[in-house]
Amino acid sequence: MKEVYVLGLGYVGLPLAIEASKNGFSVTGFDINSRKIQNLKRGICGDNKISSDTLLKLQKDSSLVFVSELPKTQTSSIFIIAVPTPLDEKRNPDLRYLRQACLKISETIADGSLVITESTSYVGTLRDFIMPLVEKFSTANDLHFAVAPERIDPGNVKWDISNTPRVVGGITKHASNLAADFYSVFCNQVIQVSSPEVAETSKLLENTFRQVNIALVNEVATLAKTFNISMHEVVDAASSKPFGFMEFRPGIGVGGHCIPVDPVYLSYTGDRNNIQMELVKLSNSKNYSQVKYVLNHLISLFKGSISGRKIQIVGIAYKRNTSDVRESPAIELIYELRKLGAIVVWHDPIVKEFKDEKSQSLQSEIDLGVILTPHDGINFEAWSGIKDKLVDLSSGKQILGLSKFF
Ligand SMILES: NC(=O)c1ccc[n+]([C@@H]2O[C@H](COP(=O)([O-])OP(=O)(O)OC[C@H]3O[C@@H](n4cnc5c(N)ncnc54)[C@H](O)[C@@H]3O)[C@@H](O)[C@H]2O)c1
Repeated sequence: MKEVYVLGLGYVGLPLAIEASKNGFSVTGFDINSRKIQNLKRGICGDNKISSDTLLKLQKDSSLVFVSELPKTQTSSIFIIAVPTPLDEKRNPDLRYLRQACLKISETIADGSLVITESTSYVGTLRDFIMPLVEKFSTANDLHFAVAPERIDPGNVKWDISNTPRVVGGITKHASNLAADFYSVFCNQVIQVSSPEVAETSKLLENTFRQVNIALVNEVATLAKTFNISMHEVVDAASSKPFGFMEFRPGIGVGGHCIPVDPVYLSYTGDRNNIQMELVKLSNSKNYSQVKYVLNHLISLFKGSISGRKIQIVGIAYKRNTSDVRESPAIELIYELRKLGAIVVWHDPIVKEFKDEKSQSLQSEIDLGVILTPHDGINFEAWSGIKDKLVDLSSGKQILGLSKFF
């Protein structure tokens, strides 16, 4: 199968579409965001760091096209789902985008095609949600289904699509082989597992592993505070053990589309099967409550009221050197501070704009400066005269000689 349709052109779908088109596939990228499609056609990719030249060249060669409407396909093709699987307002799995994508595929899919999902979801999604939905509304026969969870780490320059091993699990052995054949073209290592459920569970385990360990470090960090010791120094010391320990850093919480979200899909799988995943749920709430913990500390700095105080936050993306603000605890902290009447501005040269607000340059006329996500290249010189008004909640290199909060 040489024709590939990618549904959802975000952090996951766009790099995949590019990689497949560079490797001999004829790729159609589809997204419900028509503005995104217009921009991609003009070589503008937004959040993904893909060059305009690459986008324009692949389109000129006709190996990649971007569409706002999926055409009806005539030949068996590969359909890849890379749409969001977020949480709803009650922090439960929200499968509406996945449902829409399945319905779209069912309208266009031809006999003998392969559907692969890269979207992270609860264990059993391929077998009891995606496959039945596509089959129910499609007239095509002999369809194949597989899971191939994406492991991309946006901003990571060492590990990318080609050198990160790809786990693949098909409903049938044949589906698994078809998916493995596809990924083998541009991935160095493809690991076929015995079922889609193994692939789905492994993906959720990977990110829940991070959530649980970050929660543990955050909990021990509160203990370190009472001993007046640095948690970073503790982690540095523990990391000197050459085996059996992995480094995680304390912080204001977890963000992005994966760590705060995927463990909820795992515990949701537990709930569906009458298994209480208490450790997972506790870790989720521990990390979620870090904003309140930090907030209380900031309030305590003012002794009186925080209302009317001017506070500047540095870095509102959840992760250094990315513009990703999804589930960012910085946004939550700003919201909580404003609820208490604080006047909050922020500086983030990568995010630049969020909702109706713009990044503001570093100001020294403030009551408090809070360093959350110090992207490379931020110049803190403007704050060198107000070090007594700064709190550094970040990990990594020392800034202006300040001690870290954790
Ligand atoms: N971002 C990561 O680091 C990462 C890593 C591994 C796995 N994942 C998983 O991959 C999936 C996609 O995540 P992402 O980060 O790329 O999301 P994203 O928000 O960056 O992009 C998703 C895109 O899908 C589009 N979309 C929504 N519904 C659609 C539909 N019905 N049809 C076509 N397009 C649609 C959106 O407009 C958006 O452009 C999620 O399940 C996520 O959990 C993400």
